Amino acid sequence: MKRTTTAKAVNISARLKGLLPREVIRLFKLIDRIAQQNSCAVFLVGGLIRDILLGVRNLDLDILVEGDTPRLVKALVKEARGSYVLHKRFGTAVVTLPWPVRFKSTRLANAKIDFATARKEIYKSPAALPEVAFSTVREDLSRRDFTINAMAASLMHKNFGQLIDFFNGRSDLAGKKIRILHDKSFLDDPTRIFRAVRFEQRFNFKIEPHTERLIKEALKGKMIERTSKARLKDELILILKEKDPGKALSRMENLIDFGFIHPKIHFTKGQEQLFSSISKTVAWFKSVCEGKTTDIWLVYMMALLGDLDMSTLENVCREFAFTKTERTRLCSYRKNNLEVAKFLGRSKRLSPSEIFRQLKPLSDEAILCIVAGSNSKYIKRRIANFLLKYNKVSLKISGKDLAGLGLKAGPEFKKILTAALYAKLDTGFRHKKQELDFIKRFSAGHK
Ligand code: CTP
Repeated sequence: MKRTTTAKAVNISARLKGLLPREVIRLFKLIDRIAQQNSCAVFLVGGLIRDILLGVRNLDLDILVEGDTPRLVKALVKEARGSYVLHKRFGTAVVTLPWPVRFKSTRLANAKIDFATARKEIYKSPAALPEVAFSTVREDLSRRDFTINAMAASLMHKNFGQLIDFFNGRSDLAGKKIRILHDKSFLDDPTRIFRAVRFEQRFNFKIEPHTERLIKEALKGKMIERTSKARLKDELILILKEKDPGKALSRMENLIDFGFIHPKIHFTKGQEQLFSSISKTVAWFKSVCEGKTTDIWLVYMMALLGDLDMSTLENVCREFAFTKTERTRLCSYRKNNLEVAKFLGRSKRLSPSEIFRQLKPLSDEAILCIVAGSNSKYIKRRIANFLLKYNKVSLKISGKDLAGLGLKAGPEFKKILTAALYAKLDTGFRHKKQELDFIKRFSAGHK
């Protein structure tokens, strides 16, 4: 498809200055000066340009270089006292500058910038990783996925902010369309099928009819099956990291379906509701448990894979190359969720230590998935108590104190400390002396 534009030059420098921190604009000037000294041309490229045009703040700095990227990067790092990691073969580099940058009212300690030499990619066989040859900004943009992602802006002093838009990306942004650049795009890289859905749903756009037809042809040609499962998983995770992943998964169910994971997986109306409940639960969790590093996407993944039987789930985890800790958390949820929900859903009184014992072995992700999947007021209250109160309780005494009581170190220590913790949860000891008294009584009773 030839959609090059001859429309009059558009300059987005005012938008860049309006939406990016002042320090970043200053950084662009520095990059341009060093680029000039090293005879390079530099452009801002990719998702950031799309977002700036949409008025969305984004600080993913991707800089495209026509010229010698390693030389440019080394000179930049020397001047700005940063560090870099270079991938010579691909002509890419990640630069970290120790500048405090303020972004969305957060002070970022470092500015991370991705540099890439303009390149073209040659796909020797469909769905395989491409070979790379260095080229021009135009060729670099033409290897990209969608028109809205194939724009760049000059960072050079002579025309700072001039938009480079060979494929009418700006007009597709205005028309809310996801459109590929050429007909073989999904054959070259079938993960773009997932990306099309992700961007469509994120921005409330529409995959335009020709692009949708090409997706269907690629699916008929079994392109997903020919793609590495690890890459498919990575794309699925990106979808689950979106603000409203349920919307994207409904679209996937209709367009692609989840047979590529397992024929038993369907994104049903029930799951749609579960996803919406997870989203509310997660918002609550973030507001009450600040600073926890929870993998929210994994909560959604638990919900998506939760109906598979254990051995199928283990196979899926292996085939799709989930990491060991992801696998452990997914399998532990699958193994325990029904039983835990049944136990916590009882109207009979449960002591804090009984609730603690049920929930402590589970990951936060599993706990969130259980609470989101339940309508029981008992479960909700008990899980809230666990997260907000019981899980924060700890003993004042230590192994040293036990040794002071004449107790011998060994497996017995752990047993005694656990018993003391349960007693503290149930009776609310406030002083170290109460804990010590309990331990004296406990160990006397176990002699
Ligand atoms: N890209 C592509 N094909 C892919 C992956 C990426 O053409 N399979 C190109 C797109 O031009 C994209 C750029 O590489 O804009 C950077 O990729 P990525 O960071 O994944 O995309 P963003 O557009 O920045 O997405 P997001 O907003 O989700 O970060």
